[in-house]
Amino acid sequence: MNTVTTAGPAHASAPANLYAPVAGDLAEVERILAEALRSRHPRVAAVVDHVRHYRGKRLRPVLLLLTARACGPVTPAHHVLGAVVEMIHTATLVHDDVLDSATVRRHVPTVNAGWGTQASILLGDHLFTHAFHLASTVDARACRLIGEATNRVCEGELRQGLERGNLELSEGDYFEIIEGKTAELIACCCHLGAIYGGAGEAVADRLARYGRWLGIAFQIADDLLDLVGEERAAGKSLGTDLEQQKLTLPLIRLLQTDTNGTASRVRQILLSPGNHKREALLPCLAEGDALDYARRQAADFAARARAELACLAPSPCRALLELLTEQVIHRDH
Ligand code: IPE
Ligand code: IPE
Ligand code: MG
Ligand code: MG
Repeated sequence: MNTVTTAGPAHASAPANLYAPVAGDLAEVERILAEALRSRHPRVAAVVDHVRHYRGKRLRPVLLLLTARACGPVTPAHHVLGAVVEMIHTATLVHDDVLDSATVRRHVPTVNAGWGTQASILLGDHLFTHAFHLASTVDARACRLIGEATNRVCEGELRQGLERGNLELSEGDYFEIIEGKTAELIACCCHLGAIYGGAGEAVADRLARYGRWLGIAFQIADDLLDLVGEERAAGKSLGTDLEQQKLTLPLIRLLQTDTNGTASRVRQILLSPGNHKREALLPCLAEGDALDYARRQAADFAARARAELACLAPSPCRALLELLTEQVIHRDH
């Protein structure tokens, strides 16, 4: 995506000019996040500062703010909710890196690499509870929507974990899992942006659907990166889906379209011990249409997302929401 994500000072990863229409609002979100994530205990502060300092793309608050401004004025509730969704997202990443035994996130060591599993679990919990507490300062509806979405995110992650090693996982199961673990929160961001921007129910529902399709496209692209992306650009451990035997769309396709005995080779690679699966799989991926198939699916979901934007009057924010449907599928990080 056309944002900068590098290690180093926090400002180094601030979204570039792309988000100019909501840059001031995003700065306010950052201020709330920084203020909320302070601890009086130096050892706790050190680990919290790690996730506060190294920023990602801020996609979720950006979507919340862009959908807000596309519908009406951005309000203080949006700023708080932007901080809430980023905190929830960060909590899921901290936990996810434990589940994936990942060592790098946002170009720096993961919390589990630096402080271990126990600290990561508790930091994730700390961030989740912080987020819900902060959401309660807005109103009960925000709490309900955020609670529902987060619950589905956790259910999606849980389901994915329980399906590890299931080489019969269907495409339908895969789509349900990624809709839960990734698209729910993104849909929630767009829904919240619209609702607190004064949109009517019909528009708010369509923008939530925009977020849902966008989130699915985003996760398919992420799953492609896990297989064929570059760790340096991505800034995170790749190949972990394979090592954890978590089946993603290209693999499901490879296993289902058995050209020249590929499926049995893929099975062998997935079930073999050791950390060499990504390299071993590349020739199989090069042979079939699995990568193109997944790219086409991502593009189809991105197109579905774009179509939902017809409910908005033309504006710079709508144009950015449109642009994001391209960027989420053409990205290296
Ligand atoms: C990573 O999300 C987790 C997925 C849903 C694939 P992002 O790619 O938005 O992570 P950051 O916030 O930019 O680091
Ligand atoms: C995790 O998916 C998505 C979450 C909801 C945390 P991934 O495991 O693919 O995310 P990355 O690749 O580690 O960022
Ligand atoms: Mg992961
Ligand atoms: Mg991934």
